[in-house]
Amino acid sequence: MRTQVAIVGAGPAGLLLSHLLSLRGVESVVVENRSRAYVEARIRAGVLEQDTVDLLIDSGLGDRLKSVGLRHDGVHLQWPGERHRIDFRALTGRSVWVYGQTEVVKDLLAVRGDAVHFEVSETTLHDLETEPSVSFVDADGRRQVVEAEFVVGADGFHGVSRPNVPNLRTWERDYPYGWLGILAEVPPSTDELIYAWHPRGFAMHSMRSPSLSRLYLQVDRDEDVADWSDDRIWTELSTRLALDGWTLRTGPIVDKGITPMRSFVSAPMRHGRLFLVGDAAHIVPPTGAKGLNLAVADVALLSRALIAFFAEGRTDLMDTYGDRALRRVWRCTHFSWWMTSMLHVTGDDMDRELQLSQLRYVCSSPAAATSLAENYVGLPHEL
Ligand code: FAD
Ligand code: DHB
Repeated sequence: MRTQVAIVGAGPAGLLLSHLLSLRGVESVVVENRSRAYVEARIRAGVLEQDTVDLLIDSGLGDRLKSVGLRHDGVHLQWPGERHRIDFRALTGRSVWVYGQTEVVKDLLAVRGDAVHFEVSETTLHDLETEPSVSFVDADGRRQVVEAEFVVGADGFHGVSRPNVPNLRTWERDYPYGWLGILAEVPPSTDELIYAWHPRGFAMHSMRSPSLSRLYLQVDRDEDVADWSDDRIWTELSTRLALDGWTLRTGPIVDKGITPMRSFVSAPMRHGRLFLVGDAAHIVPPTGAKGLNLAVADVALLSRALIAFFAEGRTDLMDTYGDRALRRVWRCTHFSWWMTSMLHVTGDDMDRELQLSQLRYVCSSPAAATSLAENYVGLPHEL
């Protein structure tokens, strides 16, 4: 088969790109190695920046987002005995939205599901400098080839696209901890997210809806989730999030998993007619909720570049795509590393005092609070 853009991966990046291109009459085909049910159910990010929300609404995907998304005008930062609110609205005039990645993916699949080949295997990229194509074995075991003008690798960190870029430079930092995340059928015990530093480790209270809470605990990166009974999780969360006069509501845990934490950047984000977007090119640790938003920002830039090429024959936006995307990637990489380093307990007593000093500074200095707030609500797609 032949199309204009072949997209590898039906995560948020690949699906959004396919959607934005289709709005401007550019054809695409998406190949995905998982099933539609799996892709729709995968629980990941939960916080959308204002520019991400604006982009989704402007592209016609705002109905459910506007009716069930929760606007948050701030977050709470906490350490034992103290909880402080960072007021995004007052400091930046902007907000964030709690709307799960699963919901974004469902909205995208509702409009682009027909463009996706699910449950493919043996995805392979060919002739990326001349006449590119993507071959795969489809769900019925038939070998297929998609010929295209361009190929986009939107296949996440473990995908097959990135290794096709020769002379790739990478920067990587592994953290000695991970996040144990749970989804629980209990109304959130807080109106806004709580990021808590505690000598036993970081904890966070987030949410997905007025009846669904999402919470995280810092654990060792090699921890086995089987060692964490529901009781143990709730006890640990209650200890780390404790504050006088406040109680954590508990309830049935319906999903549980451990995510390793990593910072990773690779460059260039283009080789010939192949472009990388989202987690295929970079990973941030989840503290600060940047991963999904960064993937959307890449797609915003690349979709404009591809549309300019197909509509007007322009190549300048494609030529500068990687450099422009990387400026924002590094800003978000720094912010995520900074939030992670400030809130997770690893080092000695000196590290702890430095972390607490930083937290007190952010919560007492309008300049420091504004710096956190403007990064959290999201800097412009083009820096
Ligand atoms: P992905 O969502 O990874 O999508 C890539 C797609 O490509 C997948 O559907 C995959 O199945 C498919 N694929 C892979 N290989 C192939 C192949 N060979 N052929 C075809 N298809 C292929 N971010 C936050 O901001 N907050 C969070 O709480 C948070 N939690 C996370 C938890 C986990 C377990 C993970 C892995 C990530 C989390 N993230 C979080 C990061 C955020 O979810 C990602 O940044 C976001 O999903 C990036 O979107 P993407 O489309 O680039 O990549
Ligand atoms: C969520 C995840 C994050 O990484 C974060 O910083 C805030 C919220 C979430 O899953 O709700």
